[in-house]
Amino acid sequence: MIEYKKARLKDIASMQILVRPEIENGVILPRSDDEIATNIRSYTLAFDDDRLIGYSALHIHAANLAEVRSLIVDGSYRGKGVGSGLVNALLAQARELEIAQVFTLTYRSEFFKNLGFEEISKEKLPAQKIWADCIKCKHFPVCNEIALIHNL
Ligand SMILES: CC(C)(COP(=O)(O)OP(=O)(O)OC[C@H]1O[C@@H](n2cnc3c(N)ncnc32)[C@H](O)[C@@H]1OP(=O)(O)O)[C@@H](O)C(=O)NCCC(=O)NCCS
Repeated sequence: MIEYKKARLKDIASMQILVRPEIENGVILPRSDDEIATNIRSYTLAFDDDRLIGYSALHIHAANLAEVRSLIVDGSYRGKGVGSGLVNALLAQARELEIAQVFTLTYRSEFFKNLGFEEISKEKLPAQKIWADCIKCKHFPVCNEIALIHNL
């Protein structure tokens, strides 16, 4: 049975193993163990019994704006609703916090549109996203990612 749980610090090692192939593909930004630990409360993990099969983070940028980031599902579990389950869990957390908008930057725009996100121009993203994260990306500044936003 698939369960969604908040991350614990002891999950960091298996999170890093799960995400490694997509970091190598340039689809997800690398984050150090310390960066994940600092932000551990923002991560929600999907487990099949005790096996970590996916995770994502709801990163809060401002009182009215958060971001879904680092979304990953194990290759053998894709297409079964786990990614949607993770994003919906993060949207529920954002509603609980009364956050007005949640954005994401992704190559999988159709996946996010099916979950209620709408495409926006990248110029509308908060400057701290570009300077904190995008600048670390190997595709910066010529990036084909699409920005999407969900109004809650
Ligand atoms: C993007 C990603 C997280 C999606 O995870 P996933 O678990 O496959 O997502 P879901 O199963 O919820 O949805 C995938 C597709 O399966 C369909 N689907 C959802 N539930 C389903 C089910 N129960 N049975 C069959 N198909 C289903 C969805 O409609 C969706 O279709 P779409 O891709 O056309 O939107 C996963 O492909 C991944 O880890 N990719 C690599 C990393 C990446 O690209 N991350 C996003 C960067 S922001």
